[in-house]
Amino acid sequence: VCVLDSKDAVSCPEHTFQSIPGPKNWPLLGNLIDILRRGGLEKQHQTVIDYHQKFGKIFRMKMGSFESVNIGAPCLLEALYRKEGNYPQRLEIKPWKAYRDMRDEAYGLLILEGKDWQRVRSTFQQKFMKPTEVVKLDGKINEVLADFLNRIGEFRVNGKINDLYFELNKWSFETICYVLYDKRFGILQENANEEATDFITAIKTMMNMFGKMMVTPVSLHKSLNTKTWQDHTAAWDCIFNIAKIYIDKKLKRHSSGETDGFLSDIYQNCPLTKKEMYAAITELQIGGVETTANSALWAIFNLSRTPHAQDKLLKEIREVVPPGQVPCAEHIKSMPYLKACLKESMRLSPSIPFTSRTLDRDTVLGDYSLPKGTVLMINSQALGSNEEYFDNGKQFIPERWLENKTSINPFAHVPFGIGKRMCIGRRLAELQIRLALCWLIRDYKIVATDYEPVESIHTGTLVPNRELPVAFIRR
Ligand code: HEM
Repeated sequence: VCVLDSKDAVSCPEHTFQSIPGPKNWPLLGNLIDILRRGGLEKQHQTVIDYHQKFGKIFRMKMGSFESVNIGAPCLLEALYRKEGNYPQRLEIKPWKAYRDMRDEAYGLLILEGKDWQRVRSTFQQKFMKPTEVVKLDGKINEVLADFLNRIGEFRVNGKINDLYFELNKWSFETICYVLYDKRFGILQENANEEATDFITAIKTMMNMFGKMMVTPVSLHKSLNTKTWQDHTAAWDCIFNIAKIYIDKKLKRHSSGETDGFLSDIYQNCPLTKKEMYAAITELQIGGVETTANSALWAIFNLSRTPHAQDKLLKEIREVVPPGQVPCAEHIKSMPYLKACLKESMRLSPSIPFTSRTLDRDTVLGDYSLPKGTVLMINSQALGSNEEYFDNGKQFIPERWLENKTSINPFAHVPFGIGKRMCIGRRLAELQIRLALCWLIRDYKIVATDYEPVESIHTGTLVPNRELPVAFIRR
């Protein structure tokens, strides 16, 4: 039985932090050896699923000096959600903070805490989370999609697109830039400008480098000026320089009368300093590129292997969007099967397998009493793949979201996180991917070119371990 709040947890020794089950904990190393034996950091998402199977809905693990309590049951997520304070915190991303402090730059939503986080979050909340605001972005999203579809048409060789993931990254990058800066970057054009490709490469480098510094002390990298630290710094310099250029250009156009668009709306009543604006916008841009591309990639893959679902989706698209018309946000509202397909794909193949919270006070969670400062890992992938919450969980069955609507616990599906700190780009990402699927499925039959297994590896997001075996056949 899972209790939201056990009264015993406050006083009984069997309910203390130390009594939480978990893999064998070795001095200094913690469970690192077992984690490495099971495939290392690239397979940590699978290891966590295995540990949940072995130890249950809550377990404790330690990677070197990094200790966390892992939760993978809807009732525990619900308990956490109900106890959430005003300023929930995620695990600190120390390398990012070290860079900002060194360069005297501000923090954005991904790393801010406390009242500062809340102030920045509320500045952007309305624009991103209010459905009536987000639907207004469909024109911009479609403009980029038209170019993306042209590119798919041009680049297909026997139906296959070379490095589909990179192409999708360019698409999501171009979209978020257009939304934020009101200006096309031009990365989908034949001769993409250098700035655009530099920016994408810099994000990739930065992501790779910071990952390394999350498991080894960043202070050491900084004081020894390691190659990792140098590359991480150079990548952030590039990211900030380019983002600032685009923000400044838009603000200049704003001063000379171009007062519509996302940044203008934000800027008008903005409680943020220029420095805070730079950091917040840059992080929105970073948060929105690979995640969106990755979710679109897995949706394409899952549809390629489920032809009957694809046929059903095509039928819905044809019924709702008249021939010759561009699919828009209004159409999307009448497409429950499309919504279900994306939800199911994000359950089966999530982009981000877990998020985290750092407890800002002593908290009783289920049967255990957890001290302030405990890092909780919210294992969304473990939840989505658990047969207890999803029958035939290994299969792609969009219908489950339509037929069993009320029997699926909402806390069992949290690919965008939970509570006040949930992903702020969620609605934009969903609209973007649903529209992309409409355009793609209407023009192309997406087919599987083989049925060999495709596994996921963790590189910040969950990426396929090989080029996806899919081809686009024009209808
Ligand atoms: C946070 C997933 C798209 C910007 C998050 C979190 C997750 C997530 C799991 C952590 C939430 C938590 O801790 O509870 C995704 C996925 C996306 C996506 C799967 C695409 C399918 C976007 C987009 C943007 C964005 C398009 C930008 C517009 C952010 C930001 C945060 C965040 C700024 C931090 C929010 C805060 O702490 O206040 N995202 N995201 N994301 N995401 Fe997304």
